[in-house]
Amino acid sequence: MTHIYRAIKVSDHVYWVGAIDWSIRDFHGYTTPHGSTYNAYLILADKITLIDTVKKPFLEEMLARIASVVDPSKIGYIVSNHSEQDHCGCLSEVVGRVRPSKVFASAVGVKTLRDILHNDYPIQAVRDGETLSLGNMDLTFMETRMIHWPDSMFTFLAKDGLLFSQDAFGMHLATFERFANELPADMLEYEAATYYANIVLPYSPVVLKTLEKTAATGWEIKIIAPDHGPVWRKDLGFILGLYRKWAEQKPANKAVVAYATMWQSTECMAKAIAESLAQAGVTVKILSLNEAHRSEVIYELLEAGALLVGSSTLNNNMLPQMADVMTYIKGLKPAHLIGAVFGSFGWSGEAVKDLEAALKEMKVELAAETVSVRYVPNAEALQKCHDLGRDVASELAKRLSQS
Ligand code: FEO
Repeated sequence: MTHIYRAIKVSDHVYWVGAIDWSIRDFHGYTTPHGSTYNAYLILADKITLIDTVKKPFLEEMLARIASVVDPSKIGYIVSNHSEQDHCGCLSEVVGRVRPSKVFASAVGVKTLRDILHNDYPIQAVRDGETLSLGNMDLTFMETRMIHWPDSMFTFLAKDGLLFSQDAFGMHLATFERFANELPADMLEYEAATYYANIVLPYSPVVLKTLEKTAATGWEIKIIAPDHGPVWRKDLGFILGLYRKWAEQKPANKAVVAYATMWQSTECMAKAIAESLAQAGVTVKILSLNEAHRSEVIYELLEAGALLVGSSTLNNNMLPQMADVMTYIKGLKPAHLIGAVFGSFGWSGEAVKDLEAALKEMKVELAAETVSVRYVPNAEALQKCHDLGRDVASELAKRLSQS
């Protein structure tokens, strides 16, 4: 029989049996212009084991891929490394169809799965460091709380040197290429960085600890198999090094100037500020929030040192597209940034005060005096914008020399 959906061999005993989502464009607020994959993996051990499942609409695709190598009813164990719905959404249906003898998750995962799926089948909790025998090979579990949720864990298959890393080291990228070494390095870095900035960034301190904890296990990791995007099986130092760099969040000689404008006055100010920063040797990215998505802003901030925000005042508030971005960025907790605020107004001018407060709440230290302009900036106001950019550049240079 022809199998329309096929499993792809990842290592001696492991097959990829996930699903490709070519259509998804929004992942809880993160724009995903290149789709995604939900990776599930099948271990052909004495106890045939499924690692994670897929988003609910992709159940049949996953089962079809499994059926291309083994009758799904032969699956003995299921391991849930992460309880977010893109990985557990169809778990109850899989359990109903496959009838595994056991399902495993972390202790927090057991509770989370209950709260999400309201399931009545038993799920066995595994401890950090616990080893599970699959007969002719073993799995070892490592809790990775908050990468991405409190339930998250890694699972290591020593026999193949394969680390199942759930969300960590993943990316939202729909391709038929299943392995990172089949894709251009600049594409991998961009997609992994976008994913890190939009998903992993707030947990950067945990990432650093997890990298250390993983290294301390002494596991001989030859393959990293995440739950999204391609599998890493060559030059693992590439993605591990990027994670270390992004998690450290050292300031860089780059400023992000993000603005929302009504009648181009705030835009005019943004451009004057950006020119000044560039003249002082700072790499600048200007983002008009009338066009740019919040995901792009946080991506640009991943390796930056300054965030400058400007908004016109509309109905006693900042413009809604700026409020959207500030809410999003605040949750993702970029660290070690300095900042500044600017904006135009007609008769009240609350936006700049609100932006100052928002930056302070995000622990972004203001490095220049705010510039607020009534209606349209004249030459004097643009000079103040230039001075603002100069002051931020000067403070950034000081920070970089100290880091
Ligand atoms: Fe891919 Fe946190 O789920």
